Amino acid sequence: MKGIILAGGKGSRLYPLTKVVSKHLLPIYDKPMIYYPLSVLLLASIRDILIISTEEDLPLYQRLLGDGSALGICLSYAVQARPRGLAEAFLVGESFIGDDGVCLILGDNVFYGHDLTRILEQAIANNTAGATILGYPVKCPSAFGVVEVDDRNRVCSIEEKPRHPKSNYAVPGLYFYDNDVVEIAKGIRPSDRGELEITSINQVYLDQKRLKVVLLSRGIAWLDTGSPEGMLKASEYVETVQARQGFYISCVEEIAWRRGFIDGAQLHRIGEELRMTEYGQYILSLRR
Ligand code: TTP
Repeated sequence: MKGIILAGGKGSRLYPLTKVVSKHLLPIYDKPMIYYPLSVLLLASIRDILIISTEEDLPLYQRLLGDGSALGICLSYAVQARPRGLAEAFLVGESFIGDDGVCLILGDNVFYGHDLTRILEQAIANNTAGATILGYPVKCPSAFGVVEVDDRNRVCSIEEKPRHPKSNYAVPGLYFYDNDVVEIAKGIRPSDRGELEITSINQVYLDQKRLKVVLLSRGIAWLDTGSPEGMLKASEYVETVQARQGFYISCVEEIAWRRGFIDGAQLHRIGEELRMTEYGQYILSLRR
């Protein structure tokens, strides 16, 4: 399965922060926002990844992450000329996806918590055909896509920002699709707000009875970092956990090493380059 990180958009809720800086390069505590979704794909053992952003911002991501070889992965880059919606990722990424299935993650979504790796691996293993979305309990579902499930956890409905939500399960920005998603994306129409909606794609899979949902438990944190408050809260969360436990959240170098994408010597070299920082010291401490 291939992976796409969608890191374009306007970032208008973060103006003036994002007037000249791309949202996903802004810090969530001690690392750029994009490290967090990247770490999720690495945990899922997805190593062939496309990063989509705007024409002017894409070179910055290339400078930050390069071709991925330092992490033992393969990174490609593509431009989304205008923010025409999440589902455009499958049109921009058509040739990258090729004949494979694809996992899409939004560049401003943070996931962390108990059993996350197993949940991701299982979602991929069970999604040989069709689509899998996640459901996450939230207090105010109206702000999100909302998934309604029956008593056997089968999807009954999905609605985008409903005024009267049928459940309290929001749909986070992490989705798994079979290869049909490319053709489905070609067939959907822009919504009233002029965007190709991911919910329209999921609705097609639901109509075909091929949409599954994995309900996340309260043991997982899902944080959206698209607003100043969201960024601050996520930063505080990361700092609190890291300071308390001594384990880092979304240290992509650590994950690449633990997954066997890079060896100890490669990890050590990265740590040496960053040895002036706590981040570098953490990396150096991993092999001791
Ligand atoms: P949003 O948060 O919906 O949009 P945005 O990032 O432009 O922010 P704002 O609402 O403040 O203007 O996007 C969710 C994620 O998807 C975010 O990481 C940006 C990305 N995105 C794209 O890359 N292309 C798009 O066309 C859209 C709509 C979003």
